[in-house]
Amino acid sequence: MEVYLDNNATTAVDPAVYEQMKPFFCDIFGNPNSLHRFGAGTHPKMMEALDYLYSGINADDEDDIVITGNATESINTVIKGIWIDKILNADKNHIIVSEVEHPAVTATCKFLESQGVSVTYLPVNEEGIVDVQSVKQYLREDTALVSIMWANNETGKIFPIEEIGQICKEAGVLFHSDATQAIGKIPVDVQKANVDFISFSAHKFHGPKGVGGLYIKKGNKLTPLLHGGEQMGGKRAGTVDVASMVGMGFAMKLAVEALEYEATEVKRLRDKLESAILELPETVVIGGVNNRTPNTTLISIRGVEGESMLWDLNQKGIGASTGSACASEDLEANPVMNAFGSDSELAHTGVRFSLSRFNTEEQIDYAIEAIIGAVKRLRNLSSSYAYAPESHKSGL
Ligand SMILES: Cc1ncc(COP(=O)(O)O)c(C=O)c1O
Repeated sequence: MEVYLDNNATTAVDPAVYEQMKPFFCDIFGNPNSLHRFGAGTHPKMMEALDYLYSGINADDEDDIVITGNATESINTVIKGIWIDKILNADKNHIIVSEVEHPAVTATCKFLESQGVSVTYLPVNEEGIVDVQSVKQYLREDTALVSIMWANNETGKIFPIEEIGQICKEAGVLFHSDATQAIGKIPVDVQKANVDFISFSAHKFHGPKGVGGLYIKKGNKLTPLLHGGEQMGGKRAGTVDVASMVGMGFAMKLAVEALEYEATEVKRLRDKLESAILELPETVVIGGVNNRTPNTTLISIRGVEGESMLWDLNQKGIGASTGSACASEDLEANPVMNAFGSDSELAHTGVRFSLSRFNTEEQIDYAIEAIIGAVKRLRNLSSSYAYAPESHKSGL
């Protein structure tokens, strides 16, 4: 059996999304900016896609949603755009982010630091989220932007976006949230959350890879990252990938319709998997079980190197992760776990299982059996676990 439990890395395209995309490769192939019928033929479905995107995040008609290449591009557009507009061309010089942001945020901030920008990396508490009060505490006169993720890719922890949005609004500071891991898993309402910008990628919610979105609240101006043609109202030059845009729109519609299923059935399967693993001694959910996206669990299994576990599971047809897919080829301890202050062994023993609406009960039962078998085998081989006090081992 093959069981894919790495949906925070990417998801399968929903077959219904693929059907929507197909005509835009060989049949309706015109450039949307051309005036003839071939170009104009793309417009109805592009407009429909935009409608799905607007309603999916509850954007106002006057807000903007810019189609980008992925969340990374959206995030770079916001952070570098603010850098140009508010830091280089105004008197601000400070950005606040959390220390558990995706590298799309942190690496961009490191680059800005190399250009003289001051960046505060807010620590997370034992629950894995930033304290709302710490945002307030670190705001400065010259703060140009606060960027805090909506949900964490490793732990699934949901951040208090509405409260942070309120603080930023009161302070008159722009607020961006990386909603890449929130869309399709929990409701995302940009108006309720008081955000100025959000970023997302279609492939995280059963849409195609290579297309993302950038929400810009009305009234906010942003220097674009890509200059060129007048596509996207000049906010992102380059001919838009029509098939992908149509796919992303439809994927958003389906994801929003499936939110209830996500909150009940996907969560039930995640909880079943998690409880079975937690019955093993010396296992812990990193950051605890409260306030998480319904599909994710990051579990530390003492004595079991995360990479070895992945290898064992891969042999049995199961795909999971030790952390963000972008980081999984190096064997550095998971940075999110380090941020929690976990001890170094725990930090190397985290395995992330992330489900989707396409996982079945049968798959989860199979995965549970395989995981328990792998833990037994690897703990028997583990010198550090073998020498741990007897009380730690109780039977395994
Ligand atoms: C929270 C978060 N932000 C941003 C990204 C980057 O997404 P993409 O690689 O599609 O640009 C990811 C991908 O894992 C993510 O999980």
